[in-house]
Amino acid sequence: MKLAFIGIGQVGAALAGNLSKLGHSVTVAARDPGSKSVTEALARFPKLTVATPEEAIAAAEVVFLATPFAAVEAALADPDAFAGKVLIDCTNPVGPNLTHGLNSERSGGEVVQDLVPQAKVVKAFTIYGFENFEDSSYPGYGDLRPAMLIAGNDAEARRVVATLCRELGWEPVDTGPIAMSLHLEHMTLLWIKMARVQGVGAGLVWARLQR
Ligand SMILES: NC(=O)c1ccc[n+]([C@@H]2O[C@H](COP(=O)([O-])OP(=O)(O)OC[C@H]3O[C@@H](n4cnc5c(N)ncnc54)[C@H](OP(=O)(O)O)[C@@H]3O)[C@@H](O)[C@H]2O)c1
Repeated sequence: MKLAFIGIGQVGAALAGNLSKLGHSVTVAARDPGSKSVTEALARFPKLTVATPEEAIAAAEVVFLATPFAAVEAALADPDAFAGKVLIDCTNPVGPNLTHGLNSERSGGEVVQDLVPQAKVVKAFTIYGFENFEDSSYPGYGDLRPAMLIAGNDAEARRVVATLCRELGWEPVDTGPIAMSLHLEHMTLLWIKMARVQGVGAGLVWARLQR
């Protein structure tokens, strides 16, 4: 697929690198092609290409948003550019002392969907640290794959994202509409507090068991 990345830091580079290795055509939508994050990502993953945000988004079937949450309004300043696109929201609104950045009143996923009403926003690749997006392998668990919870209003867009999850080694767990993002964002806080603060370690992921 033709993919574009807005934000190519820890999360963006991990996902973009693995998707390019899987054979996808991955372009960095770069405000500044000489920035540290773009330069480092290209050095790590030579198959990535770079274009202006306008060009990269226009050419993409699926756009990844992997900027700090504070930057989403600026990054999505031209809503028309995203009309009809699947937009994967990888951002997390995190507030002071690891609280929900929007006071748990509303999800970041819904904020992103409202900024680009004609895009099909799917929240995904948010509930763990970037280390797991770099390496999703969990040997020793047979066919069990780590779970990736996703949420979005458009069922077909969720299917597209679920396929990308599977290709990247995850079992997609479809939680339904974008409003479910609030729960995913709290899962992120749970993960950060356990994995990073309490010292459980970044290799912690959840799996789905169901009768
Ligand atoms: N780190 C994690 O483990 C993790 C895990 C899951 C989700 N997340 C979420 O994923 C998002 C990215 O996190 P990260 O750790 O990858 O951040 P990061 O390493 O700081 O990278 C942020 C990227 O966003 C770009 N950016 C900043 N402002 C922008 C703007 N206005 N327009 C376009 N691009 C802009 C930066 O570009 P420049 O270098 O040019 O400034 C950089 O490439 C955050 O919302 C975070 O909460 C993080």
